[in-house]
Amino acid sequence: MTAFDGDPAAILARLAELRAHDAPTHGGHVLSYVYDSGLAELDELAGRAVAAMQPVNGLDPTTFGSVAVLERELLAFVRELLHGEPDVVGTVTTGGTESCLLAVKAARDAWAAAHGPGTPRLVAPSTVHAAFHKAAHYFGVELDLVPVDADGVVAVEAIDTRLGDDVALVVVSAPSYPFAVLDPVAGVAAACSARGIALHVDACVGGLVLPFWSGPDGDALPPWDFRVPGVTSISADLHKFGYAPKGASVVLQRPRDRQRAQYFATTRWPGYPVVNPTILGSKSAGPLAAAWAIVQALGVHGFAALAASMARSTAAVIAQIGRIDGLRIVGVPTGPLLAVAADESVPVERRVDPHHWADAARGLGWVLQLQPAFSQVGGVRLPATTHLTITPVTERTLPELLPALATAADSVRGEPHVDAAQLLAGLPLDQLGPSGLDSDTAWMLLQGFGIGSASGQGDGPLPDRMAPLLAIIETLPAPIAERLLIELLARLVEPTA
Ligand SMILES: Cc1ncc(COP(=O)(O)O)c(C=O)c1O
Repeated sequence: MTAFDGDPAAILARLAELRAHDAPTHGGHVLSYVYDSGLAELDELAGRAVAAMQPVNGLDPTTFGSVAVLERELLAFVRELLHGEPDVVGTVTTGGTESCLLAVKAARDAWAAAHGPGTPRLVAPSTVHAAFHKAAHYFGVELDLVPVDADGVVAVEAIDTRLGDDVALVVVSAPSYPFAVLDPVAGVAAACSARGIALHVDACVGGLVLPFWSGPDGDALPPWDFRVPGVTSISADLHKFGYAPKGASVVLQRPRDRQRAQYFATTRWPGYPVVNPTILGSKSAGPLAAAWAIVQALGVHGFAALAASMARSTAAVIAQIGRIDGLRIVGVPTGPLLAVAADESVPVERRVDPHHWADAARGLGWVLQLQPAFSQVGGVRLPATTHLTITPVTERTLPELLPALATAADSVRGEPHVDAAQLLAGLPLDQLGPSGLDSDTAWMLLQGFGIGSASGQGDGPLPDRMAPLLAIIETLPAPIAERLLIELLARLVEPTA
């Protein structure tokens, strides 16, 4: 008798069948989530590197010395790209969120060591990635969001006036995810260092592409990395524009002692001494090895060539949006990502609602990402938008993508934004506190909106149109919207009866 009596072919066939229903990870039809270099041989190399490291436990680089070597070499590459001197040290993490969490954890602990007990603040523009909301929530830090203007730009003075002794960390983005704005890193850094406050630059999305990017007139970008005095940490994701499989990012910090506050170590239990630079204990070394292999294969020259391709594609997409009556690009994007809003300078019948546009594009085979309108506390309401991330493979798709963007707009021009008030009419919203919304009620509400399968699982098909769901998210009080989304995602993985 053997422990293994499954049929590998049948098991893998089932996996292939499941994967066949996923959104396509390659080919450029999904313009968010996936970062396709367009180089099949690079994916092949990454896959082989993952396989080579499959049994290794990344927890302990003293037992598995290869982990330390790969991490050291990868950190050296990213540090040089971001102009870090030898006082910049870092860690390979499992993703952007973990890098951001660790930057906040280190800043909180460094602040507490200097200031004693208390609740520190984290100051950031309201476009900062949600990972910092999560970090504030996990680590007991108060998130203090500064409004941005309608183009997603934050004023240095607006951040400056929020600074005080209780601020453990300021975060700016290079660029921000929602509107691709390169925040004013140098100005904010000057304000922070004048007060001895740490500054994190979240370059999760931009870290491996902005080093090769220029401004709208071909001019050099203002410095945003370790060249700027006062920048104390930077996050940069290898599983985005580093083209690695998911599970790889870098957080770099300076000086060395600040980074040590990122670690957790304990000898206060009867088992092995625990020394963790990251949140996980045992962890895969596969994505680390894949990211390392990709960096070896591409080198600076390869990254530059891929960035040049994305710069051409981004310019082509921006030009095409400019030609589509009723749509506009929000602000001045920096990097291969952008947000598209309705052009409110033209009469309503000529405007294109970005969410209807995204739904129409999906019908044509292009998956764009809908972003809700957002009311800032003490600031302007930011418009509903649709997000596009451009990747190297996009250049190959331009002959079909550009006309599809226009066709999608033509098919929905003049259609007003979904009126969520109508969808929500009759719901006893005032009686629904987040604590009052149990699983069954939340599920019933979702089904009332036509979301989720009748079986009680969350695996019903996504609605054909996402615009109504986004309108509901824009309109419901955040705690209720969040509770409904939790229910939807939780039901997705509940075992069937
Ligand atoms: C600016 C920025 N920060 C943080 C993150 C979070 O990264 P991840 O999804 O890898 O956790 C993202 C993801 O898009 C991002 O764009």
